[in-house]
Amino acid sequence: MCGIVGYIGERNAPDVLIKGLKRLEYRGYDSAGIAIINGALVFKKGKGKVQNLHKMIKDSGLSGKIGIGHTRWATHGEPNDVNSHPHLSETGKIAVVHNGIIENYNTLKKQLIKRGRTFQSQTDTEVVAQLLEEILHASKGIDFEQAIQLTLKQIVGTYGLAIINADTPDCIYIARKGSPLLLGIGEGEMFIASDASPIVEYTNKVVYLDDGEMATIRQDSYSVKTIEDVSLTKEVHELAISLGEIEKAGYPHFMLKEIFEQPRSIADCMRGRISTQTHSIQLGGIEDVIDDLINARRVVIAACGTSWHSALLGEYLFEYLAKTPVEVEYASEFRYRDPLIGPGDVLLVISQSGETADTIAAMREAKKREALVLGICNVVGSTISRETDAGVFTHAGPEIGVASTKAFTAQVVVLIMMALATGKRKGVLSQQQMKGYIEELSKIPAKVEYILEHTDAAIRQMAGLFTYAPNFLYLGRSYNFPVALEGALKLKEISYIHAEGYPAAEMKHGPIALIDAMMPVVVIAATDHTNDKMISNIEEVKARKGRIISIMNDENSDVKALSEFHISIPATKDCFSPLLTVIPLQLLSYYIAVNRGCNVDQPRNLAKSVTVE
Ligand code: M6R
Repeated sequence: MCGIVGYIGERNAPDVLIKGLKRLEYRGYDSAGIAIINGALVFKKGKGKVQNLHKMIKDSGLSGKIGIGHTRWATHGEPNDVNSHPHLSETGKIAVVHNGIIENYNTLKKQLIKRGRTFQSQTDTEVVAQLLEEILHASKGIDFEQAIQLTLKQIVGTYGLAIINADTPDCIYIARKGSPLLLGIGEGEMFIASDASPIVEYTNKVVYLDDGEMATIRQDSYSVKTIEDVSLTKEVHELAISLGEIEKAGYPHFMLKEIFEQPRSIADCMRGRISTQTHSIQLGGIEDVIDDLINARRVVIAACGTSWHSALLGEYLFEYLAKTPVEVEYASEFRYRDPLIGPGDVLLVISQSGETADTIAAMREAKKREALVLGICNVVGSTISRETDAGVFTHAGPEIGVASTKAFTAQVVVLIMMALATGKRKGVLSQQQMKGYIEELSKIPAKVEYILEHTDAAIRQMAGLFTYAPNFLYLGRSYNFPVALEGALKLKEISYIHAEGYPAAEMKHGPIALIDAMMPVVVIAATDHTNDKMISNIEEVKARKGRIISIMNDENSDVKALSEFHISIPATKDCFSPLLTVIPLQLLSYYIAVNRGCNVDQPRNLAKSVTVE
C-alpha cells in the first residue's frame, strides 16, 4: 500500500524514480510524486497515475542525482494534487514520503499549528515534515539524524519513511515501523524501495530494514541504526527474483500472465518437496516443528482476503488428510478479540505479500502470547517470512496483479503438502495412501495446463454474455465452498459486479430469494462425494430460472444437462479439486472485467499489499 522509491548515484534520479514508481504502481495509484535535490529541493506531484507525473517531469526538464518518489493509496485526505506525496516542511527544505498511518497526527498537527506552522494538506504525513523541521530548528547542535530520531519518538502509528533535506544534499534518510523498506546496494549508487521490484534491474544486493530501524544512505555507503541510536550491522541478502518475472511478457495484463503461469508456479511450489519415487513429502521449513503442530492444543489459521480463502481450505484439508482440527480466523478479527492462544498452540498465518498489516498484527499477538507461529508466504524477505518461527515459501514468483491468482493455488498446494506430511507423521495416512495422493498431486500442473488450453476460448465467449450482469452467485460444497468465495471475490474486485459465494446448501436459507431469470449462478460441481447433493441444489436454481454456469468434471452428464453453460475440467481427487476449479473462475472474472473496460491490474480503491490496519 503506497510505494516508495529513492535513488542516489550518477544516473538521472527522476528517470530512475519514474521507472521505479511504474513498477510500484500496483501498490497504490491514487497519485504520485517525486522530490529531487539539485542545488535546491524541487518536487513534482499530482493526482492520478505515474504516467501523468512522468509527463509533468518531462515537460519541466527536472534533473538531479538524488531523490525520492511515492505512489499513493489514499488514507488521510482525498486523492488530489495537494495530498500527494512528497510533503514538504514549511521552508521547503525537507521532503518526506510515507507509507503507513500516523495515528496521533491530529494531536501533533494541532500543537504545530498553535506554535505557528501552516499546513498545506489533509494528510498525516505532512506532520512528519513539519515536526522534523521544528525539532531541527529548536534543538541546538543536533544533526539531521538525531532530529529524525526525536521526531519518530513523538510519532504513534506505522511508517516506512524516506526523507531528503536540502541542507544535507548527499543523503537519503529512511526509517521503518510496520511498513516495509529495503535498501539496494549498487556499484557507486544506492536505491531504496518499499519492495524489490524497482531495484531488481540494478542490483540483487539488498538490506531489509526491520521495525524500529533507520538508515542514512550516501552514494557509496550506508549506515543503519535503531531509532534509539544503537548502530547495527545488517546482513546483505541476495534477491532471488529476476526482471522477467516482474514484466508482462507480452500479456495484456499481469493478471492474465499470472493465471497462465500456474502450471509452472504450482510445479515450482512442489519442486524438491514431493517425491514420486519414495512417495514422501519434505518441507524443510517446518521439519523441526511438525511435532509441535501434531501435538498442538489448538491450531488456528489466520489470513485476509484470498489468503483467507486458502486458510479455509486448509481447515478442510487438515481435518481430512491429517485428522487435525483447525480453526480459521480473519486476521483482523483475531487480534482484537483477546484470542485464547498461548504456549502449546500454533498460529499459521498465510500471506502472499508477507506485509499485510492485519496478518502481521495477528502474528505478533500470537508470538507475544508464546504460541508457535508458522507462516505460508510468497515474498522472500517480507516481514512475515522473517518474523514467523518457521514456515514454507510458496515460490509462486512475484505476483503483480492486484487480484491474487497464482498465489492462491500455490498456497493451496503448500497446505495440501503440509496436511499430507502431518497425516503421514501422525500415522493417519498409510504409505499406500501417500502414494495415491502424491502421484495425483504431481499431475496437477499438467491438468491446469489442459484447463487453460481447452477452456480459455469458451470462457472468453461466455464472459461476453454476462458482461453487464449486475449480480452473480457462486455456489460450492465441501472443498469447493472456499473456491465459491474466491470466485466471487475475484469477480467483484476487478469488475465491480456484486457477487456472493455460498455453500450450495446454504442458498435455500436466504440467497435463493435473489434467483430469477437474470441471475447468473456459477456452480462448482467437481467434488464427487457431494455430487448428488450438488445436483439437488442445481435443480433448485433451475426451478427458479437462474442461469446456471457449471464447473464440472468431464463426464458429469447430470450437471451438464442442468447447465446453460458448462466448463469441463479433468477429474482429480476431491481434496485437490480447488486447484482446478478455481482456474475457470479466474478466467471468467478476468474476461468480464476486460469487457467492462476495468483496469484489471489496478482495480479502483484497492492496492496489492494492504499495509494499514
Ligand atoms: O498479501 P496477502 O495474501 O496477505 O493479501 C491478503 C489480501 O489483501 C489479498 O488476498 C486480497 O484480498 C487480494 N486483492 C485478493 O485478490
